[in-house]
Amino acid sequence: MTDSDTAIGPTRPDEVEAILEVTAQAGVFDEKEVYTVRELLDGYYDDPGKSGYNFLSYREEGRVLGYACWGPRDLSGHGYDFYWLCTAIEARGKGVGRALMQHVEAEVLARNGIWIVIETSDTDPYAPARRLYERCGYQKSMLLPDFYREGDGLVTYTKRLR
Ligand SMILES: CC(C)(COP(=O)(O)OP(=O)(O)OC[C@H]1O[C@@H](n2cnc3c(N)ncnc32)[C@H](O)[C@@H]1OP(=O)(O)O)[C@@H](O)C(=O)NCCC(=O)NCCS
Repeated sequence: MTDSDTAIGPTRPDEVEAILEVTAQAGVFDEKEVYTVRELLDGYYDDPGKSGYNFLSYREEGRVLGYACWGPRDLSGHGYDFYWLCTAIEARGKGVGRALMQHVEAEVLARNGIWIVIETSDTDPYAPARRLYERCGYQKSMLLPDFYREGDGLVTYTKRLR
């Protein structure tokens, strides 16, 4: 893969279905979560500034191989939430997730942001995500066991960018 045939940029309306497919096939998200991504994308296209949810696509030769969703934290001048990250199953382990994370960090820095906050689950299916966050320099800042349901806790990762 070379830089010339790979591009990360704001998600386009014609990529919505591909993003929902990547989400549905990810193996960790249920129907309600896939529906939530659709709703967030709808809000993003209605008014990206107002929705507070920004989507980035990772494309290779015209195909969407992954995406990220992030936005400013309410009532914070310098804090941003990293809401969603997903790499197509066939593209995993090749740096797509890391590239998306780095792109989001650059976007946050460009807006004078300082902190990125990520909330995820402490269950096994999310182990690759937790590993990715740690490899990208995020600190495990909080663990609330059984937060989502019995046996499914909340882990919060944070990174100070500057
Ligand atoms: C988490 C996820 C986005 C990783 O995407 P990816 O494109 O495969 O990740 P990368 O290839 O960029 O890997 C980056 C780092 O993460 C680590 N990593 C990624 N997948 C891993 C796995 N299955 N096991 C162990 N480490 C893993 C690697 O160590 C790598 O670090 P290194 O290059 O320093 O070794 C992907 O597995 C995914 O989409 N999972 C399902 C959705 C999800 O859990 N999203 C996050 C919560 S919203």
